[in-house]
Formats: sequence, structure tokens, C-alpha cells
Amino acid sequence: MKDLPRKEIISKRGRKGFELAPEVLNDTSSIPAFLRTRRSAEPAAIGMPGPDDAQLALIMEAATRVPDHGKMEPWRFIILRGGARLNFAALLKARWRQLNPGQELDKRSQHDLFLRTPLIIAVVSRARPHVKIPAWEQHLSAGAACMNIVTMATAIGLAAQWRSGWLAEDARIMEILGLDEADTLAGFIFIGSRNPDAPPPEDRRRPYWRDVTRFWKAPDDA
Ligand SMILES: Cc1cc2nc3c(=O)[nH]c(=O)nc-3n(C[C@H](O)[C@H](O)[C@H](O)COP(=O)(O)O)c2cc1C
Repeated sequence: MKDLPRKEIISKRGRKGFELAPEVLNDTSSIPAFLRTRRSAEPAAIGMPGPDDAQLALIMEAATRVPDHGKMEPWRFIILRGGARLNFAALLKARWRQLNPGQELDKRSQHDLFLRTPLIIAVVSRARPHVKIPAWEQHLSAGAACMNIVTMATAIGLAAQWRSGWLAEDARIMEILGLDEADTLAGFIFIGSRNPDAPPPEDRRRPYWRDVTRFWKAPDDA
């Protein structure tokens, strides 16, 4: 595969990396091309309409086709759409106000995102005790489910972003979603159509893979 057009970027902390040229992002011409160029959407770029039922089925098939040691199925999915999403946004607003008395309802609350995004999938990691399979591995499987949701949604031309924030750790929000202390929220995946008025996607700095990778050698292997 040939090199992609890219710009070298040095982060504020002096880390070397690069950004791909905007025109090559989310290239769906082949699976390798897509995986090299995939990019999540910014929240402002996610608009109406949401996935239809056929698209949602594709997304959920991908969500449940993930590596899962011991076939434990350590994930559950809660879909918020239509009126349910608006009702959730109202409860989120009330909870934010309770936690932040006297403060403006600003973007930290994420309330507006639930109003603007047509479909949100809460991904729940439900690790159970097992003699061989640590909770850590079960949480990783939930992370893989999140990633597959973002990947499939983007691959079929939708705009998606994986988010967390205060609401992913708040006991009252967990209760509203019908979860308990055995559950962890791996995140909320916001999915919609790319807003035609939003600026085209731009890359974010990526590390060169060689800077984060080494080939292991035995200590006595010269
Ligand atoms: C577990 C997890 C939680 C995240 N939570 C947030 C968040 O709350 N807000 C945010 O702006 N980005 C959050 N991000 C990052 C976004 O998903 C971001 O769009 C993503 O890192 C962009 O990378 P990509 O273009 O390679 O998909 C989170 C990422 C992960 C893995």
C-alpha cells in the first residue's frame, strides 16, 4: 500500500506524529484503506437522521462480533433514540443541576448532545467472577464492542463518536439506565448522519507506529 498524504505534527509536549490529509479520511474503498484512514466525528458534525433499522442491525451485529474470552458475553447495550433519548436528556439535566447547584447548564453536562444526536448506544461492561478470565479481559471485550460500533457506523457512512465523561461514572445515571454496581459503562456511542453544514473532518495527531513499537529480541541475541 502506498504512503498517504500527511503532515508532520509535533505536539506541545514534543511528541512526533502526523495528520492525514482531510481528503483521504474515511476511505471506504477497501477494508485496509478504511482502517488506515478511519476517523471519528466531532459532536457538532453528528446530526439527523439517525441510523434506520437496517443500519442499526448492522451496527449491533458488529457490536456482538468481538473477541470474548470464554464466550462470557460480558457486555450489554442500551439504545436511546426518539422520545427515550429526550426523556433521558431531561433526567440528565436534572442530575447535572443537582450535582452542580447554581451553575450554568453548559457543554460539560453533555445534555445538548443527547438532544441533538438521533441515536446513542450505552455500552455496559458486566464482568462476572470467573476462575480463568479476569475482569480486565471482560472489560477489554466491551471496549472492542465500542470500537466495532464506531467502525461499522462510520463504514456505512454515518458519523459516530465514543464518549464518556461524568455521566459514565455517576451512580444516579447508572440507576436511570437500570444498571447496578456490577456494571461499568464503557461509554456512550453517539451516532447520526454527518451534518452537511459541518466543516469536513480533519485528522488529529497520530503517532508513528514505530515510535510506540519495538521488535523484541532475546537478551543474548546480538
Ligand atoms: C473510553 C473513551 C472515552 C472517551 N470519552 C470522550 C469524551 O468524553 N469526550 C471526548 O471529547 N472524547 C472522548 N473520547 C475520544 C473520542 O472518542 C475521540 O473522538 C476519539 O479519540 C477520536 O479518535 P479516532 O478519530 O481515532 O476515532 C473517548 C475515547 C475513549 C476510548
